[in-house]
Amino acid sequence: MAQLPSMGDQDIELLNSQTHIWNNIFSYIKSSSLKCAVELGIPDIIHKHGRPITLLELADAIPINKAKAGHLARLMRTLIHSGFFFHTKDAYALAQPSTLLLKDNPFSLRPFLLFLVDNPILITQPWNHAREWFQNDDPAPFDTAHGMTIWDYAGHQPEFNHMFNEAMASDTRLVMNVVIKYCKGVFEGLNSLVDVAGGTGTVARTIAEAFPDLKCTVFDLPHVIRGLEGTKNLDYVGGDMFVSIPHANALFLKWILHDWNDEDCVKILKKCKESIPSKEKGGKVIIIDMVIDNARKDEKSIETQICYDTMMLGILGGRERATKDWEKLFSDAGFSDYEIIPILGLRSIIEVYP
Ligand SMILES: C[S@@+](CC[C@H](N)C(=O)[O-])C[C@H]1O[C@@H](n2cnc3c(N)ncnc32)[C@H](O)[C@@H]1O
Repeated sequence: MAQLPSMGDQDIELLNSQTHIWNNIFSYIKSSSLKCAVELGIPDIIHKHGRPITLLELADAIPINKAKAGHLARLMRTLIHSGFFFHTKDAYALAQPSTLLLKDNPFSLRPFLLFLVDNPILITQPWNHAREWFQNDDPAPFDTAHGMTIWDYAGHQPEFNHMFNEAMASDTRLVMNVVIKYCKGVFEGLNSLVDVAGGTGTVARTIAEAFPDLKCTVFDLPHVIRGLEGTKNLDYVGGDMFVSIPHANALFLKWILHDWNDEDCVKILKKCKESIPSKEKGGKVIIIDMVIDNARKDEKSIETQICYDTMMLGILGGRERATKDWEKLFSDAGFSDYEIIPILGLRSIIEVYP
């Protein structure tokens, strides 16, 4: 190798800074490559193969232009680097996170990934309007990009509405599996429960099946629950949670309050308080959301929470909250006490008492 000149600290820093900027510019490559692999069905093909698969076998099994087979190795290298596959003995195998992207896994996050990554309506267009949004009065860049809130958009665009609800439902299947397995006590003693802004009812269906004597209601905007049918202990009610919420022993709010700013959260929580009995009579609100200071403190968890918070800003003008932020919301809405159960990875269950 040629003798290298010794470089000044400033120049070393200059080149390191360039690498740092490149690294951030190209961070979209991680999510875009993952989406491409999922759309090509790569995790499913490797899983069905039953053992590690060679590049040629993989290229043969997916519907691509065979002249491009060599480029597959480059896509796979990116995804090996980000922890989705292994390369052993010249063959590819699934790493653990990829099992959550399989079509047939009941806890598959595929719909969540396909809805979020590179979605022009949800992500790209709002972020292209972020600078403008910082200068205007709109609640979120989404509103600046589309001239309406995401809820109005979903009400007018059935395909977007469907993909949104599927994405939410896929998250719910995974989370509720943990809740029902480890936190049954949260529902014990309840006669009735309303899942406030409960989407198409995946949460409430899981609870209704686990507790056949508990009367469950899914409450969401009319366009979300239109045409959905209940069961023996589950029904659907359409409405607006800022106006009134059906009465019940307990209300369940999964991934709702992080959609809204503090002022709107207090309005929602006050409406919740009007719909439940006193603490002595068993009234409570059960929330599933992030409590950012309660989650794991490793670099990946912290970065994921920060990114999530910023994504909520882009789409809804909402935010993720720390314990002190939650405490203020509960107290401003007139609740007396709360308990945090930090059992859901980056999220927690919060029980709030009137
Ligand atoms: C992030 S999703 C969460 C859905 C569900 N809880 C879950 O975790 O799968 C937020 C939900 O709030 C509903 N929503 C928005 N504004 C609402 C309102 N004013 N009244 C009732 N529901 C509303 C949306 O339709 C959507 O289903």
